[in-house]
Amino acid sequence: MASLKTLLWLGVCLSAWIITTADESVFKAENVRWFSLDFKTILRWTTKPSDHKYTALYSSDGNNWLDCPHCTKVSDSECDLTAELKPFDRTYTAKVQTEPLSEGDEEDPDEFPHADSLPFNPYRESNISAAAFTVKAVDKSRVNVSITDPLTSIHAGGKQLSIRDILKKDLKYKISYHKSGSTGKRDILSDSITALVSNLDAGQSYCFMVAAFIPSRPKATQQGAWSPRQCTLGDRNSLEELSLGTWVGIAFVLLTVLITIVMVTVLCCRCRRQRNTSQSSAPV
Ligand SMILES: *[C@@H]1O[C@H](CO)[C@@H](O)[C@H](O)[C@H]1NC(C)=O
Repeated sequence: MASLKTLLWLGVCLSAWIITTADESVFKAENVRWFSLDFKTILRWTTKPSDHKYTALYSSDGNNWLDCPHCTKVSDSECDLTAELKPFDRTYTAKVQTEPLSEGDEEDPDEFPHADSLPFNPYRESNISAAAFTVKAVDKSRVNVSITDPLTSIHAGGKQLSIRDILKKDLKYKISYHKSGSTGKRDILSDSITALVSNLDAGQSYCFMVAAFIPSRPKATQQGAWSPRQCTLGDRNSLEELSLGTWVGIAFVLLTVLITIVMVTVLCCRCRRQRNTSQSSAPV
């Protein structure tokens, strides 16, 4: 009898244990991903609605897991790791673990349900936003392009760093330009924030776009976002700047005028011939 009771209790305990463990792993973080723009790097994950808290840990080059106060036991599903991921040119991995609801006595955090991120290197993989720039015609065939390095949200020594402060010589700009109204594009690479684009057709309007370009990076992350186009004015040659619609309109009007002229001429000729015939046939 006693043994049956023990067995029952064991069963109850076992199923309770299974339920609680299953419960916990249901609340495992998912889709742990890095989001990084201009070296501001945020770790985001998804969760199921619950009262669970999450702790994000990170490790550089496969070393020990490190924690940070603002990423410990948070109810958010993101954590800003910008300040932690230094130096930039290292490979970091993060994991997000689910904290148990009740403070366990001797639970091993290593056994909390957790999800890992893919490795991430801010220096090589952070996205770069579009750079502001201006264009100015120097003379008939040359245009000066002047770019402003995008700023990061990182401060050092009382100064807000630009992407050039971080990327230094690795930072170039791709300048893409084309004649206004034409599709043929040309690209040039500039080492500095100013570039002189020459050999342009005199008097033509040209449109320019720029994007940060980091040749030392892997292909997929070499290029920053393109900035919106900026165009030079050129000599406003009215005939060449007309759109297709306008040309069709002009052709239509010309055709109508031509047809009218032809019809009027034909009618007039017929009238005159009739008058001439009636005159000549009149008795003298
Ligand atoms: C960079 O931008 C691309 C395109 O928007 C995006 O798919 C990618 O996840 C971004 N990478 C990071 C690290 O934020």
